[in-house]
Amino acid sequence: MSKLWGGRFTEGPDEFFKVFNDSFRFDKALLDYDIQGSIAYAHALKKAGVLNELEESSLLDGLNKLKEKLSDTPDFFFSEISKYEDVHEFVESFLFSTVGDVAKKLHTGRSRNDQVATDLRLYVRNGLEVVHGKVRDLQKTILHRAHREQHVVMPGFTHLQKAQAITWSHFLMSYFEMLERDATRIADCRARLNVLPLGSGALAGNNYNIDRDSIAAELGFSEVSKNSLDATCDRDFVIESLSCMSIIMSHLSRLAEDLIIYCSSEYSFISMSDQVATGSSLMPQKKNPDALELIRGKTGRVYGSLMGILTVVKGLPSSYNKDLQEDKEGLFDSFDTLFGSLTVMETVVSTLTVNEDAMRQSCKKGFLNATELADYLVARGTPFRESHHIVGQIVQAAQKAEVGIEDLPLDVMRQFSQSIDEDVYGYLSIESMINGKKTVGSTSQVQVAAAIEDRMKTFSVEQSWR
Ligand code: ARG
Repeated sequence: MSKLWGGRFTEGPDEFFKVFNDSFRFDKALLDYDIQGSIAYAHALKKAGVLNELEESSLLDGLNKLKEKLSDTPDFFFSEISKYEDVHEFVESFLFSTVGDVAKKLHTGRSRNDQVATDLRLYVRNGLEVVHGKVRDLQKTILHRAHREQHVVMPGFTHLQKAQAITWSHFLMSYFEMLERDATRIADCRARLNVLPLGSGALAGNNYNIDRDSIAAELGFSEVSKNSLDATCDRDFVIESLSCMSIIMSHLSRLAEDLIIYCSSEYSFISMSDQVATGSSLMPQKKNPDALELIRGKTGRVYGSLMGILTVVKGLPSSYNKDLQEDKEGLFDSFDTLFGSLTVMETVVSTLTVNEDAMRQSCKKGFLNATELADYLVARGTPFRESHHIVGQIVQAAQKAEVGIEDLPLDVMRQFSQSIDEDVYGYLSIESMINGKKTVGSTSQVQVAAAIEDRMKTFSVEQSWR
């Protein structure tokens, strides 16, 4: 026994088409889940009276043998990959060669349509758990770094132009917060996909009295699907998990871009560890942030996979269509990409060195304290719009004199506003700029410390689903 179909055919497939149609070379990634699903289905067939005890136990025996063989020699079937259409045919053929004719009973009432939908949900559920753990690991590293380096100040940018002084920890924690949403988004997605399709048959349901609830319980699904047409063609969970992964990649890509800029010699805010940098074959002086550039670049392929599956399902008629086989490669590739990118980003963040001095020096150039001066005037009764204009003129004067606002003599500043007094200098230092911020979530050292402490209290990598 090899083929899963063919009785009504008189000719074999065209050679080229066979390869075009086959999916085993990639859906072999579903092997463990196909076996798990088949074990649960064998239990259900026995319970429904389709299999007797002996038949059930020989099927289970065969499936367990395959499991063992895969764990001892995971690639034992590689040389024969082209013999099988897909993972389902491979498993059934292995069973037949191990336990004989009884293997032909396993597919009673089951279709590859509800089977593959089940396998893929199990695969994605596991993949999301792994990605979730990796996101939590990166958050932990960011949190500890932010906790240790709270005293470090840096310029904050808008439009990549210097804007206001912030703390390095505030910058780091902004990524912690993005990843926090990512982790909870994955948990939501996992909860929504954890529904059992098996028992939906090809499209219309199952003629045998199989207990879908106990299959669901055995496979860890929290409920059974409510409509067999929907269950066999629904790939929302693929779209949703690729969308969660795309958002994570967008966050990693932005962090990568920030760090690439900060480690350039023009900024020198940070240095990348040698562990995650590379050199140039031509220019001996070079040390390039390839790890970060690759993360930024790989974001494209995850977005591409999301666009791919969205396009595959667009306009598909109801129920299963072979187009759905195209749901896999981009998805599998994305899980690998996420795993790699999150792992490498964690190494980058934990091993980089902060150049505190360069960051502080940079805060002194670019009139970061201009808004502070405007606020000073507001506190002394000048309406903000007016104080904004006055400070603009003071910045012009400082620019002309090639000094910072804080270096201008008092009488020069007073030419623009009589409300400015000697105490102004106390408001213009980097620390007073930062600590002048009052609101929850702002960059003042008190607020950042509170945010870190708050996250430390509730955050734990071990606590896996929240
Ligand atoms: N390899 C197929 C897939 O991934 C399995 C389902 C095939 N179903 C069918 N009716 N031909 O979608």
